[in-house]
Amino acid sequence: MIVTLTIAADETAFAKKAAQTVLEAVTAAVRAGGACSVALSGGSTPKKFLALLAQPYYRERVPWPQVFFFWADERCVPPDHPESNYRMAEEALFSKVPVPKSNLFRIPAEMDPPSSAARAYEQTLRLHFKSSNLPKFDLILLGLGEDGHTASLFPDTPAVAEKVRWVAANYVEKLSAYRITLTFPVINNAARVVFAVGGSAKAAMMKEVLAEKTGRRLPAQMVAPVSGELVWLVDKAAASAWPETVRRKAV
Ligand code: 6PG
Repeated sequence: MIVTLTIAADETAFAKKAAQTVLEAVTAAVRAGGACSVALSGGSTPKKFLALLAQPYYRERVPWPQVFFFWADERCVPPDHPESNYRMAEEALFSKVPVPKSNLFRIPAEMDPPSSAARAYEQTLRLHFKSSNLPKFDLILLGLGEDGHTASLFPDTPAVAEKVRWVAANYVEKLSAYRITLTFPVINNAARVVFAVGGSAKAAMMKEVLAEKTGRRLPAQMVAPVSGELVWLVDKAAASAWPETVRRKAV
């Protein structure tokens, strides 16, 4: 596993670097294999760089018809709900670029029970990747929660230990809610996983995640692409708790 650490000077540079990272990963995958599969995370961090991808420089360069978008996780709400990760991406990006609607594979997280949504999404993955082997995403974009969660794999929740299923309905006690999430077997099978983490609120957790402490591992520390690349893209604020030695090494 190759690990790259990049620290962006500020929010603007962070969004640009994230958008550029997506563009490079997508164009490389399309050049190599004719298509690209990307899984997006939700939350607030991606909003800025997804919106940047809708700007002319990126909109004109991304081969939209060859890019297939999935979600790393989703809240169990309808797609038009303010908390929906799909809605966030639709508003920030997909409503503004020429991506075929058939290239967007939304998690049907409004299904009840949540386990049926997980099963349905797993079937969507099997059909798209045309294989019963683990899907290999070209790019998975992840965020980092202040508690060390990523996607909807929260510390001490059942889905963190899932080794077989590709998609899980994960009950998150602290939210008193289910979430639908890709599991580690899928995440760690990706060709490239990019954590995009910004803001001083994440500094303490960024320091913990990078510390080589043994013992209890946080979900974000369990992201380790088996034969892929792991990229940490953070802004200066999120990197502010790191020792100077680490910050100096970052490119
Ligand atoms: C979600 C995300 C989640 C997110 C982190 C960071 O559905 O909320 O997938 O894993 O990436 O919670 O969220 P922020 O970017 O809002 O800090």
